[in-house]
Amino acid sequence: AELAGRFPLTANPAPADAETYRRCMDALAFGVSFTDHMVRATWTPQSGWRGRRTGPYEPLTLSPAAAVLHYAQEIFEGLKAYRHQDGSVWTFRPGFNAARMNASARRLALPELPEEDFVASLAALVAADERWVPATPGASLYLRPFMIATEPFLGVRPAHEVEYLVIASPVGPYFVNGFQPVEIWVSQHHHRAGAGGMGAAKTGGNYAASLLPQQEAGEKGFAQVCFLDAATNSYLEELGGMNLFVVHRDGSLRTPSLTGTILEGGTRGAIIELLRDAGREVREDTIYLDELRSQLRSGEVVEMFACGTAAVLTPIGRLAGADWDAVVGDGAAGPVTTGLYEELTAIQYGRRPDPHDWMYRL
Ligand code: COI
Repeated sequence: AELAGRFPLTANPAPADAETYRRCMDALAFGVSFTDHMVRATWTPQSGWRGRRTGPYEPLTLSPAAAVLHYAQEIFEGLKAYRHQDGSVWTFRPGFNAARMNASARRLALPELPEEDFVASLAALVAADERWVPATPGASLYLRPFMIATEPFLGVRPAHEVEYLVIASPVGPYFVNGFQPVEIWVSQHHHRAGAGGMGAAKTGGNYAASLLPQQEAGEKGFAQVCFLDAATNSYLEELGGMNLFVVHRDGSLRTPSLTGTILEGGTRGAIIELLRDAGREVREDTIYLDELRSQLRSGEVVEMFACGTAAVLTPIGRLAGADWDAVVGDGAAGPVTTGLYEELTAIQYGRRPDPHDWMYRL
């Protein structure tokens, strides 16, 4: 709460009218409606970070020459604010996201933001927009910190003017059907990232690269695309916007290792820790598609799930590609996926102890 004072409220907008507010809080569609405020700060090489403030959510004034519009010098993060039973509001591992944003900043030649500022910016926005944190089960306030190059300059070099902002959106499940199995299309011809590229950074360009294959998958009725590695086109990397796990018959799990081309998900890391706490085997590994297909056929792999801040855990019921199609287990949500979903969300919503100090009160 005292951290929130680092981003003082400079202007108070007229709050959304009661009917708009009700509609948003009832619909809770992912990323569709936004709160009354946003937080921002400005960076230049001479002054560092200045102008930390909380003000109205409003359109940005940006030069058409702003570097971000031309060369995509942009990074973002995603976290959620959860309403606990007693009304208090908490977020999950903000230090992880602060560190990851700074890792992305280094890759995109953007300035790093001190971790205290990152956490303070979340606290400031939630303090101003507390009424937008839903109390509905499974819902949350999705927080979207991001950084853009605003300098009006068409030369290709790191910008000398950068803006950091945080906006927020009250959300329910990312997939419209909630905790229900989704179907995944494995892309044969498009890749998300290559060695030495930006795959490990949370930058808009990676998501732009996912849109066409994601659209092609969507036209075939699939919820997400799965990317294979660009070098050999043989092993699984990640989905369009989330990580993935496979569950073996013996109860052990595997997830693609952090090769530098995939995003290190906070949910991915938390799941690995929860599994290790419970003494279960989990391996970060190379998951070859051919091998996985035969393991799905033989029943060696019994469950798969997607995971991310937005997706939480979502069971994968079917995996398919150009000339093959595989049901995962019996196509329904399995016990391991369901158990992990329950365990993680119980911590996030304050229904069970938090042994790792993952929760941070805003
Ligand atoms: C998240 O999980 O928060 C993301 O950033 C991914 C995107 C699909 C919303």
